[in-house]
Amino acid sequence: MSNKTGKKILLSGVKPTGQAHIGNYFGAMKQFLDLQNSGDYECYFMIADYHALNLIQNADEMHKLTQELVLDFLAIGLDPKKAVLFKQSDVSAHTELAWIFDTIVTMPYLMRAHAYKDAEAKNKEINVGTFNYPVLMAADILLYNTDVVPVGQDQKQHVEYARDIAEKFNFIFKDSANVGATTFKLPQPLILENVATVPGIDGRKMSKSYNNTIPLFATREEITKAVMGIVTDSGGPENGGIPANVYAIHKLFKSEAELKPLYEANKGKYKNLKEALIEDIDAFIKPIREKRVELVKKADKVVSKTLAEGAKCANKIVQAKLEQAKRAVGVI
Ligand code: TYM
Repeated sequence: MSNKTGKKILLSGVKPTGQAHIGNYFGAMKQFLDLQNSGDYECYFMIADYHALNLIQNADEMHKLTQELVLDFLAIGLDPKKAVLFKQSDVSAHTELAWIFDTIVTMPYLMRAHAYKDAEAKNKEINVGTFNYPVLMAADILLYNTDVVPVGQDQKQHVEYARDIAEKFNFIFKDSANVGATTFKLPQPLILENVATVPGIDGRKMSKSYNNTIPLFATREEITKAVMGIVTDSGGPENGGIPANVYAIHKLFKSEAELKPLYEANKGKYKNLKEALIEDIDAFIKPIREKRVELVKKADKVVSKTLAEGAKCANKIVQAKLEQAKRAVGVI
């Protein structure tokens, strides 16, 4: 802890690459909210637009998706009075520090990253931004003296890369006369075991790229469509009439104790169980969906105000760390 408040520092981010889904929410955004409201952390929540640029290469779409994600953040209850909500590209220190890290990170090391290996296995042509993804993410995290990074399981390796990069930097530049013993603090991932990987409607990890999501702000119709599409007839035994994929998603909304009698009374009756799940998802989404509808009415104003305030605050916070790193490497 090295900040003025004496609180632990928390940072996380979401890419504006499409509609937020309940995997994003339960895997990460719900933790953002709970930890923000605990009052125990100094919180930074980032819209990772430069990371999204690897995928979204259309200005109108980038503007739209960024605005949508700010509204999502606000609608779930992230609060600019309690946390800094900002956009990565507004804080140029991120890309500046990433360049410094680029000079100490090796290509073989980045070639071991899951995301790179997956893309390579699919014979995809990989741009340098995707290859370098973990380096920019390390800069995102390390600039803020971050203690904890709440994320889903798929981001664990990225937080480990940030730790490795911090250690390597601290080691290489430890003798710089004008810096203290260490420049960067080693962050910890914060992953909740039961929601580390939220499954999608086909039982694989819920992901925009698999087209198996339930949108976080889905309408009743969209919820119905998604739930009716949950795969019940494949992917392993149905545990004596309990459809595994339906149950796995239902567990996010109700406790296992609450679900037990429902599933026992409806063994093999998949339609009943799916209807109950639709009710439970809708009951959960309805209030945040309504809040979001209200926010949309004043979207332009709310979004620009939130991002302007966030950018101002984040830029101020990172100056000292960036300067420390630049001194350590000897460019100032
Ligand atoms: P992104 O935008 O892919 O996802 C945002 C968060 O949602 C989590 N998540 C899931 N958790 C559980 N089950 C799922 N099915 C599921 N799908 C998504 C992700 O783990 C993530 O926590 N690289 C990051 C963005 C980023 C970032 C950062 C995060 C950029 N810089 C610095 C933390 C710190 C990403 O692509 O998240």
